[in-house]
Amino acid sequence: MDSVSTAILLLILALVCLFLTLSSRDKGQLPPGPRPLPLLGNLLQLRSQDLLTSLTKLSKEYGSVFTVYLGPRRVVVLSGYQAVKEALVDQGEEFSGRGEYPVFFNFTKGNGIAFSNGERWKVLRRYSLHILRNFGMGNRSIEQQILEEGRFLLEELQKTEGQPFSPLFMLSRSVSNIICSVIFGSRFHYDDERLLTIIRLINDNFQIMSSAWGELYNIFPSLLDWMPGPHRRMFQNFGRMKDLIARSIREHQASLDPNSPRDFIDCFLTKMAEEKKDPLSHFCMDTLLMTTHNLLFGGTETVGTTLRHAFLILMKYPKVQARVQEEIDRVVGRSRLPSLDDRAAMPYTDAVIHEVQRFADIIPMNLPHRVTRDTAFRGFLLPKGTDVITLLNTVHYDPSQFLKPQEFNPEHFLDANQSFKKSPAYMPFSAGRRLCLGEPLARMELFLFFTAILQNFTLQPLGAPEDIDLTPLSTGLGNVPRPYEMRVILR
Ligand code: HEM
Repeated sequence: MDSVSTAILLLILALVCLFLTLSSRDKGQLPPGPRPLPLLGNLLQLRSQDLLTSLTKLSKEYGSVFTVYLGPRRVVVLSGYQAVKEALVDQGEEFSGRGEYPVFFNFTKGNGIAFSNGERWKVLRRYSLHILRNFGMGNRSIEQQILEEGRFLLEELQKTEGQPFSPLFMLSRSVSNIICSVIFGSRFHYDDERLLTIIRLINDNFQIMSSAWGELYNIFPSLLDWMPGPHRRMFQNFGRMKDLIARSIREHQASLDPNSPRDFIDCFLTKMAEEKKDPLSHFCMDTLLMTTHNLLFGGTETVGTTLRHAFLILMKYPKVQARVQEEIDRVVGRSRLPSLDDRAAMPYTDAVIHEVQRFADIIPMNLPHRVTRDTAFRGFLLPKGTDVITLLNTVHYDPSQFLKPQEFNPEHFLDANQSFKKSPAYMPFSAGRRLCLGEPLARMELFLFFTAILQNFTLQPLGAPEDIDLTPLSTGLGNVPRPYEMRVILR
C-alpha cells in the first residue's frame, strides 16, 4: 500500500472513531437504539419492506422510546398510545416543532403552516384558522356547501348506471372542491382542467411520498438529488402546483377589493398589504403560495384517501354496509340528505367512520415533530432541535387501547348499550399543538359524503367480497389503498 492510500485509510479510521465517540458521548441521555454506521446511520436495520415496519420491529427490541439514525440524521421514535400521548398532549409545547421532512422541504424551504417553526408557524396557524372559520369551517355555512357538493357527486354516481368505475377521481373532485372554494372563492366544474390537474398532481405526489423512493429520499436527499427516478417527478409536480396557484393569485390581485374579501387568498393578500411596511411581517408572497399549497394538499388527498379505504372496507363487509344503511333509513329516511344534526342519533355510522379512520390509519408515521427546547422525557434528555417520529400506527393498533386492533370492528367505538364511545387513542388527525388544522372540516366531509352516498346507493365489488385485499398498496407518508373499480347500485 502506498503512502497516499495509507494516509486516506488512517483518515477514514480517524473519522469513524471520532463519529463513534461523539455519537456515544451524545447518547448519554438519549434513548437507546441500534448502533449507527457513519453516514449510513441505521440503514442496515431499516432494510425491511418499509420504514414503518422497520421502526415497529425496532420498538419491539428497544421499547417505546428509542433513537435511530436515518442516514446521518438522528431521530427519536415514539411508539404506542402512552408514549405518543405523553409527548404530543402532556408535553405539547415542547413537542410542537416541525421536524425535517426532505420530500417537502425541497419545495417549501420551511415556509407555509405545515412546515414552518417558531413564531412564523404560530402566526400563520392562528391567522389561517381564523380565516377558515370566517369562511365557515366547522359551522353551518360550510355544511351547506358540502351538502351542495354532495348532490353533484350523487348525480355523477347516478350517471355510471351500475357500470364499473374507479372511485379515485370521482371522490377527489368533490372533496377537493370544498377546500378549493374556500381558497379560490368558487367550486370548479367536474371537467375543469384546473381541478383535474390539482387532483392528479397531489395524488401522484402522495403516491411517490408513500413509496420506497419517497422514503429513500427522506433518508438521503442530497444523494438522490443526483439520481434519476420517480422522486424527481415530485419536484416537477410541486413546480406545476406552484404555477397554478401563482396564476390564481395574480387573478385575485387584479380584482381585489380589500373591503369585501371573497376567499382565503383575498384575505391573505389584504393582510400582506396591511403589513407591507413591517420588515418582520410573516405575510409575504412565498408564504401565501406555500400555505395555499398546504391547505390544498391536506384538504384533497386525505379525505379522498379515507373515503376510498372506507368503500373498500364496506364492500368487504356487506353486513356493516347494510347496518349503516338501515340506520340512515331509520334516522334520516330517503326524502332529504343526512345532516350533521343527525350524527348524534347515528352511533353505528359514527363508529364505522371512526373505525375506518383507525383501521386505515392513513398517515401512519404522522408528520415529523421536533422538540423546541431541551426536553426531559421518560428519564431521557432530548436536546433542543431533536426530530421526533410519532408512530400513529402503533397508537391505532395498540392492544392496550383496542380489543382486537388487527380486525376491522366498529365495536371498538361502541359501548355495551351500542352508544358511541370515544377513544383517546383515535388519533388520525394527530394530537396536541400541531393537531391537523382541517380536522373539523374533514370530519364534516367524511360524515356528509359517506352518509349521502350510502343513503342513495349500495356499493358493490367486481369480485367476491372475501377476495378484497385491505392491506395498503404502499406505506410511507400515507397508507395508500390498492387501486380498485366498483359499482354503485341505486337503492
Ligand atoms: C381525513 C382527513 C385528514 C387527516 C387524516 C389529516 C391528518 C393530518 C395529520 C396527521 C397532520 C399532522 C399533525 C402533526 O404534525 O402532529 C395534519 C396536519 C395538517 N393538516 Fe390535516 N388531515 C386531514 C384533513 C385535512 C384538511 C381537510 C385540511 C385542510 C383544511 C388539512 C390541513 C392540514 C394542515 C394545514 C396541517 C398542518 C398543521 C400544522 O403543522 O400546524 N388536513 N393533518
